[in-house]
Amino acid sequence: MTETVLNIPFDDAFRFDPSPTFAELRENRPVARVRTLAGAEVWLVTRYDDVKLVLADPRFSRAAVVKQGAPRVALAKPMPNSLTTTDPPEHTRLRKLVSTTFAHRRIERTRPWVAELSAQLADDVAKAGDGADIRQLVALPLPIQVICQLLGVPYDDREQFREWTELGYSMKMAEKDLVENAMTALTAYIEELVDRKLANAEQPAEDLLDELVRAREEGDRLSQEELMAFGVNLLVAGHETSANQISSCVATLLRWPENWARLVDDHALVPSAVEELLRFNRFSEVGQLRVAVEDVELHGVRIKAGEGVMAALNSANRDPRAFTNPDELQLDRKENKQLSFGFGPHFCLGAQLARIELQESLLALLRRFPKLSLAKPAEELEWRRVLVSGLAELPVNLGN
Ligand code: HEM
Repeated sequence: MTETVLNIPFDDAFRFDPSPTFAELRENRPVARVRTLAGAEVWLVTRYDDVKLVLADPRFSRAAVVKQGAPRVALAKPMPNSLTTTDPPEHTRLRKLVSTTFAHRRIERTRPWVAELSAQLADDVAKAGDGADIRQLVALPLPIQVICQLLGVPYDDREQFREWTELGYSMKMAEKDLVENAMTALTAYIEELVDRKLANAEQPAEDLLDELVRAREEGDRLSQEELMAFGVNLLVAGHETSANQISSCVATLLRWPENWARLVDDHALVPSAVEELLRFNRFSEVGQLRVAVEDVELHGVRIKAGEGVMAALNSANRDPRAFTNPDELQLDRKENKQLSFGFGPHFCLGAQLARIELQESLLALLRRFPKLSLAKPAEELEWRRVLVSGLAELPVNLGN
């Protein structure tokens, strides 16, 4: 019997609750055939253990996603020579260059500053009054300011690189031709920044891009292409995902207002609530792509070398094999091994930074607006059609 090939994103994507198709596949077709927006046929794994296997097993490669003829998930071509498109040992060498900056203890030093920024942004929300858009006033400016500072990118350039990021992640077929131009423009922008840093070499700025430029200057530790890929990757991954998750976290709490009230009364619950919200909210409408480098048999399906496999993080996060009552939001869930930051060698480099941003932005809003509520019914909120799931708007009433 020939298997039905489903189109992904599914028809009922880009809304709050995950498509029921994920649950159906988890039970009945744990390795399913799907067709991506870019027209490639790949396998989709939906169970928790299988998702971990695909993300951590070296038989599934990230380097192979940039090979000629490799299947594609999104409209934009993945950028070669980056953390996300290399396998060990190249990946290990690149990751080492930035791992100190993102190490848990070092990144924790940014917490007081992130908390201060969050409080300032809450002031902006208060000034805007009822109807204030949390996405525009908090969710975007917070991670953008943080990554700009860390990387050494001028905050004044944000409108420009936001536009390129938005297009680069687009899942709208109508924008197909604009996507590549946006990625080229983003690379040219990083190149120009690096040139400016080289021109000011005698006054190093002590930011991450500066450090990477020095690594390239020191010879064989980093090539020009790798430096460009680092710049684009860190700038984009460093704000787009956090921005979407900040909005999703606030919106999910306000969808069931008793959750907001519970956190207002108990700030100590915020770290565990953030883990649960990360599990509960969607990260992407598709899965994380790998390409098999040898034949692999999984649940009776033969995945052939060269074929693509997507690991559906959202589906794994709702797998009853890994979580009790997975469709319930439990802010105090114990032993929450959510996979929203991935797993294995490509585990999110910025996970701890993202946690700080999510926790501190929530705390600032909880302190300032104990009676916050959605200004529009949750079902009417608009979602963006991009690779990383997120709301287009989050209007709230302040209740002050
Ligand atoms: C809530 C926010 C975030 C979420 C949900 C998230 C999620 C993820 C996931 C799922 C991966 C693994 C992708 C894969 O295996 O294919 C990843 C990788 C990555 N993330 Fe994040 N991320 C977030 C925030 C950040 C931030 C703030 C940074 C800051 C620099 C960042 C930088 C990266 C980088 C560089 C990688 C590639 C790591 C590698 O390939 O070794 N992320 N992220």
